[in-house]
Amino acid sequence: MTSGVGAPTRASISARTLRTDRWWLPPLLTNLGLLTFIAYATVRSFMGKWYVVEEYGYLTPFYSPCLSESCLPGSSHFGTPLPELPGWIPLGFVALPFLLGFRLTCYYYRKAYYRSVWQSPPACAVAEPHASYSGETRLPLIVQNAHRYFFYVALLVSVINTYDAVVALTHGLGLGNLVLLTNVVLLWAYTLSCHSCRHIAGGRLKHFSKHPVRYRAWTLISKLNVRHMQLAWTTLGTLVLTDLYVMLVASGAISDLRFF
Ligand code: FES
Repeated sequence: MTSGVGAPTRASISARTLRTDRWWLPPLLTNLGLLTFIAYATVRSFMGKWYVVEEYGYLTPFYSPCLSESCLPGSSHFGTPLPELPGWIPLGFVALPFLLGFRLTCYYYRKAYYRSVWQSPPACAVAEPHASYSGETRLPLIVQNAHRYFFYVALLVSVINTYDAVVALTHGLGLGNLVLLTNVVLLWAYTLSCHSCRHIAGGRLKHFSKHPVRYRAWTLISKLNVRHMQLAWTTLGTLVLTDLYVMLVASGAISDLRFF
């Protein structure tokens, strides 16, 4: 290795690290968290059932918007402009690639998976296994620079998820409504706390005093932005819990707790 810790100007230390604490624990937990979500989301996206409760208007975010004639009754809040789809295409395929792109290119998730999956580096003072580094200047990592565009689509998806949650309220009020609404509020918090959103609101301004509205928005977003990591993990959890709740009610495994 002639670069990084193997560069001739660096101290020659053969051990990968001299750290004796459990530096490997955070990367391990990150890997486990990400793998659990990916496995769950993949299985649910291809399951093709138990994603809507027509009686109460509950629709899981994994299948929204559902635009195909294959969609179950009550799940197509925006009509069915697309024909029937073969089983290997997830019914939420319109939004899923963009949501995946949004999360994959997120500045926090980059930090998480660069360290834990690519070990680049896995922790402070722990050498990475790679011999060279090209950053985000070449394919495929140059795509990370498209994060702002994924953000715009994620905004639209947040509006759609909000609409789904409001539609459900027209069927009455149950525990499922609170689950959907909590998920939507947290999704908005995660989306608006995005670093690109913060830059769109207040970036490249020479004088905040001349742009009071953008400055106010930037100030509010900045407060959310410091919680971006927590919101990134929380929303992975609430997405799974929301989908799980809809699945359990839709399959008849549990009954929805109705308030009125
Ligand atoms: Fe994480 Fe934009 S930086 S969503």
